[in-house]
Amino acid sequence: MQLIVDVNNISKNDLNKSIISHLEKKGVVIIRNLFKNEKIKFINQNWNIYFKHPSISGSVGYSQTSQKKLVNSAFLLGKHVLDIALNLDIIKSIESYMNSECTLAEANAILDKASSYEYFPVHSDFAVGWKKSKEMKKPLSLSQMKKPVGVGAILYLHDTEYGCFKYSLGSHKMLSPYGQKLKPYPKELKNKILENMYKCKGLAGDLVLFDDRGFHGPDQPSLKDRKVIILDYTRDKTFGSIIVEPHKVKINDLSSLSKKQLRVLGMNASPIVKSEDYVFTRYKKNLFFPVLSWIIKNSYLKQHIKNVIKHNLIKFRIKS
Ligand SMILES: [Fe+2]
Repeated sequence: MQLIVDVNNISKNDLNKSIISHLEKKGVVIIRNLFKNEKIKFINQNWNIYFKHPSISGSVGYSQTSQKKLVNSAFLLGKHVLDIALNLDIIKSIESYMNSECTLAEANAILDKASSYEYFPVHSDFAVGWKKSKEMKKPLSLSQMKKPVGVGAILYLHDTEYGCFKYSLGSHKMLSPYGQKLKPYPKELKNKILENMYKCKGLAGDLVLFDDRGFHGPDQPSLKDRKVIILDYTRDKTFGSIIVEPHKVKINDLSSLSKKQLRVLGMNASPIVKSEDYVFTRYKKNLFFPVLSWIIKNSYLKQHIKNVIKHNLIKFRIKS
């Protein structure tokens, strides 16, 4: 099955048509050669800085959300990630497919470590009744679900076979009748979803676009680590301009962005998850959090005690 659209072999106009056609028919498309190798190289260089250690008391580093998953804000990895996420050809295709303006609601850099078990099962991102948080007033209705409410994008940062993104072809047309998880689905329907699962093996720099309503997930268990940038664009006509948590960007990276790109980036968007509740902060619920917190709070204790003794000794000498 040919799901790859190679930018080197297609005109700009046909690129847009081809992306939309794949999304409509199959729910997924792999876009190749849209981004220069240097961009991917730069992102990988920054990756090595941001994924070397966990962020501890403000140090540059990642958040760990499970034994196998490390995450970071995508735009901290540099301007090239912004250029890719706000590429005008991609925005044009997504907005044409949605028949609406869109907002980049989420942008994360994710390292999924090799694993002998599945820790992130196949799912769909939306179903009737969906609400991301209490902050969202109205749950998603069936008539809203009939429109492409969200488009996801995965950027491969290395040639990816193990742990690649997989998508159940055409499943976006089912509209998740039994919810977002596969477990409650009748056996026949579940088998159909799994039989149509397509592994999107790809090269470094490939961008996979997919309709979030379809069933998808990483191919797990996986023999190798997987480094990706994951982006999620939501449909403004359905939700208004919403953003899961405002993006963390470096201010000097914004200088060359157009008005349209800033709008898609969420310049005037409403956040739907509080910063303190966002998935990156999950470690606060970990058993070791109070212990680590205590260690950090007392990391300068030796210096502090020295200062107290020194200070009080001076006072004592002055008095005597
Ligand atoms: Fe998802």
